[in-house]
Amino acid sequence: MRFVTVARSTPLRGEVTVPSDKSITHRAYLFSAISEETSEVRNPLLGEDCERSLSAVKRLGCSVTRDPNGTVLIVPGPLRSSSDPIDCGNSGTTIRLLAGIVAGWGLNATLTGDESLSRRPMRRIAEPLRLMGAIVDGDTPPLRLSSGTLNGIDYTSPVASAQVKSCVLLAGLRARGETWVREPSLSRDHTERMLEGAGVKIMRGKKGIGVAAGSQPRRIDCRVPGDISSAAFWMVAAAVVAGSRVSLRSVGINPTRTGVLVALEQAGLDVKVGNERWESGEPVADIEVGSGPGIGMTLDGPLIPRLIDEIPVLAVLATQLSGETVIRDARELRVKETDRIKTVTEGLRQMGAKIEPTDDGMVIEGPTPLRGGAIDATGDHRIAMAFAVAGLVAEGETQILAADSIQTSYPGFFEDLRSLQK
Ligand code: S3P
Repeated sequence: MRFVTVARSTPLRGEVTVPSDKSITHRAYLFSAISEETSEVRNPLLGEDCERSLSAVKRLGCSVTRDPNGTVLIVPGPLRSSSDPIDCGNSGTTIRLLAGIVAGWGLNATLTGDESLSRRPMRRIAEPLRLMGAIVDGDTPPLRLSSGTLNGIDYTSPVASAQVKSCVLLAGLRARGETWVREPSLSRDHTERMLEGAGVKIMRGKKGIGVAAGSQPRRIDCRVPGDISSAAFWMVAAAVVAGSRVSLRSVGINPTRTGVLVALEQAGLDVKVGNERWESGEPVADIEVGSGPGIGMTLDGPLIPRLIDEIPVLAVLATQLSGETVIRDARELRVKETDRIKTVTEGLRQMGAKIEPTDDGMVIEGPTPLRGGAIDATGDHRIAMAFAVAGLVAEGETQILAADSIQTSYPGFFEDLRSLQK
């Protein structure tokens, strides 16, 4: 798939079970490697990013089997160093969490990535790991980690990043004393929930989130819920394509991830969350979204980490809302798989939107009709899918170039789109 063509859509109707949560699948695989007993991960995401975490776990000495219905069993090894580099592909979560494990367990390994990952900042994890006593060479991939003995730290992260928080906490499981991480606002807390569910004592207090030395997960026993970040594409598609109504089944609604629902509510859209329940320590629900007019949103402050990955598609939504949408405090977008402030504003401008980039976000004036064209997704899965959604309301055809990256998180995206158009 070098490019895909999307045409203006008929109303979207029906039900979708979105792919499993990427963040939770990564954690289930990686935490299995440091568990005492055999772990079982049911309904994992089969995207390329998570497969990187699974191969990394094998490289560290675990044995992995997948049964015919997709359940993954992971038997932990004694963890071992890797003389060949471990390729983390496009995955920031793999490299940053893995670095915490490699450093904590005193292993030697070189962690590499693709062209996009090789540009992404690793100083944010290298610095706290060095403060703990780890030997980390490189502030961008390749990262060379060599064995050392770690001491716990009390670390204030300059960014609200679950990858940084998780990396430090994982290393802290094997460091001397306690390790604490404070962040400017709460980032996704799947690490804390999953480790706690596996018997690790997680401390919460004025100093942030903490772990004590010597704590180890017993085993991961997890059924992965649907990914709200993938569901967001259909929420926005249903909202903007006239006459649509879409139901999304078994979507994770962890409060650290539900900023997209807050945004849709702010816009005054028709969203229903029902059938709330729990799956493996995470709240889950069915979500129904219908089309309708809406008003501009203000997305900023502590809401940003709760919807950071959904901003590209929320920007598409903003082009169809009445009035101004302001997105700020989102400088982190500049260091995702692409500089998403740049890729979103350039692409939407090309389609006729009134959108201005700012240092830490963007301002969008709506509603504006969009027109099709050729959009370069530059290998960023969320950009490719956000522009596919834009193409559903654009006049003419929209070609998404370099759309292969959708395999990263949502391999069945176009099949699900077709099923909603029937
Ligand atoms: C993730 C955390 C976020 C998010 C990424 C997945 C995770 O990144 O954008 O897609 O699974 O921990 P940061 O930790 O860089 O904010």
